[in-house]
Amino acid sequence: MFENITPEHSAALDVIVRARHSVRAFSPIPPRKEDIEAIIQAGLLAPFGALAVAGDPDFRKVFVIRNLSAAMAAASDILKNRTAKLADELEKKVGTVPFVQNLKRIGQQGVPGVGNAPYFVVVSERKGMPPVAAQSLSYCLDNMWLKATSLGIGLQLISATMQMDSDPEFCRFLSIPVGEYALDGCALGYPADKYQPPSVEYPTLGKSVSWL
Ligand SMILES: Cc1cc2nc3c(=O)[nH]c(=O)nc-3n(C[C@H](O)[C@H](O)[C@H](O)COP(=O)(O)O)c2cc1C
Repeated sequence: MFENITPEHSAALDVIVRARHSVRAFSPIPPRKEDIEAIIQAGLLAPFGALAVAGDPDFRKVFVIRNLSAAMAAASDILKNRTAKLADELEKKVGTVPFVQNLKRIGQQGVPGVGNAPYFVVVSERKGMPPVAAQSLSYCLDNMWLKATSLGIGLQLISATMQMDSDPEFCRFLSIPVGEYALDGCALGYPADKYQPPSVEYPTLGKSVSWL
């Protein structure tokens, strides 16, 4: 089954997995369309909940929004307004906790990654039973992230996209039915000059694994 895969492929994958990090500052130079398509192709090959989407060959849709376009301005405004509303609603329930303060800031300044990277990519997957569309989209984004890394292209997850699945304005913007698709998203672009991701401590084999 895996006869075409060599130890060199495996070693290359290890390098890419270790090199993957969040990029949160982007060069304005847009990556080539072919590279964006290669990244999306990797996402389309990610696993999905087969029973949940049985009978729908069109269960995963991807939308590419280019920076400095009318579409990006519209997406940015819809996301900003929705986040501001959410912040107000939450503030009434839980007070001005740090999470609410962060939402308020986003509601004023916009969602990081939307409008300051060459591309905002929205991935969507039809909801079904069992309800696993969100997990499927995580696999999709992870495949995209690894492929982007292999091409020297940075990716920032934009989780605020998830809350837009029942937003009539955003669904109309994407031309999808309201509430029927789970959503997630990311920004794509070359890292800004000299961008260094914050150092992250990851779990280790020694500390995190128990063989029972
Ligand atoms: C479910 C999930 C949602 C995330 N949402 C965001 C996000 O909205 N914006 C962002 O900049 N990073 C987001 N991240 C990225 C994490 O903050 C990041 O992966 C983590 O801090 C480790 O850093 P690294 O990606 O540089 O290795 C998210 C990660 C996960 C797993």
